Amino acid sequence: MHFIFAAYESGLLKALTTPCDRQTLIEKLGIKRPDLLDALLDVGLATKELAIKNERFFISRKRSKAIMNDKGDILAAMIHANITYYSDAYRHATYRMQGGELGDYLDQIGDLVAWFSRIGEPIIKDFIASIVAGKNPMRILDVGCGSGVFLQSAYNANQNATGIGLDIDEAVVQQAKDNIAAWRLKDRFDIFHGDIRHSPEKIVGPFDLINLFNILYYFHEKDRIEPKLCTNDMIF
Ligand SMILES: C[S@@+](CC[C@H](N)C(=O)[O-])C[C@H]1O[C@@H](n2cnc3c(N)ncnc32)[C@H](O)[C@@H]1O
Repeated sequence: MHFIFAAYESGLLKALTTPCDRQTLIEKLGIKRPDLLDALLDVGLATKELAIKNERFFISRKRSKAIMNDKGDILAAMIHANITYYSDAYRHATYRMQGGELGDYLDQIGDLVAWFSRIGEPIIKDFIASIVAGKNPMRILDVGCGSGVFLQSAYNANQNATGIGLDIDEAVVQQAKDNIAAWRLKDRFDIFHGDIRHSPEKIVGPFDLINLFNILYYFHEKDRIEPKLCTNDMIF
């Protein structure tokens, strides 16, 4: 996993989607320390993620190949999350158990969390489709919208869907805006920066659906309200 992380982040895996010799890799990846590239390539060969033929390296194992195919984005996110913020709890466990600061590093990893959170999409998209399909109007407020993926799922299930994605993290807002633009949904959904706890000005209802997928744990237990209602149209 550590090898794949470094190989993905450095661009090595992307470069090796076509076989490449060492010198070409040095140039393509802007390498200033070829000795470290050699070490990484050695690990790739030792783990058999890479292979070499006629002095040209190529990707040989399923895991690295899977990351580079058109559905590999979420696998790359999973590896990034595991190597970085998921490991943080364990890396600093001793320090924290001995009274060290818990720290608040959410603002540095929001982007990655939003990227990785898309892992829920295959499960949640059918649920969203079952709620929004066939309804008109369908104006949605997606609180803690992350990557914006659930707005896209709603649109795929119902082309009448319009609405707003809201997120408290500016880097995440940018990611959602970029995605919504790339998915050609800019005329359907606005993405705003704001904290749902303080009634952001731009959030003007009414909405046919308000969702808060995967954000409960951002709210302290004492700030949560008891669920009172759960119908087909409303999720609390
Ligand atoms: C784990 S991510 C989930 C993203 C998306 N809903 C998904 O499931 O893919 C939670 C998101 O909620 C956002 N968030 C947390 N507290 C919020 C608040 N008070 N107001 C708006 N967004 C918030 C975070 O910045 C983060 O992007």
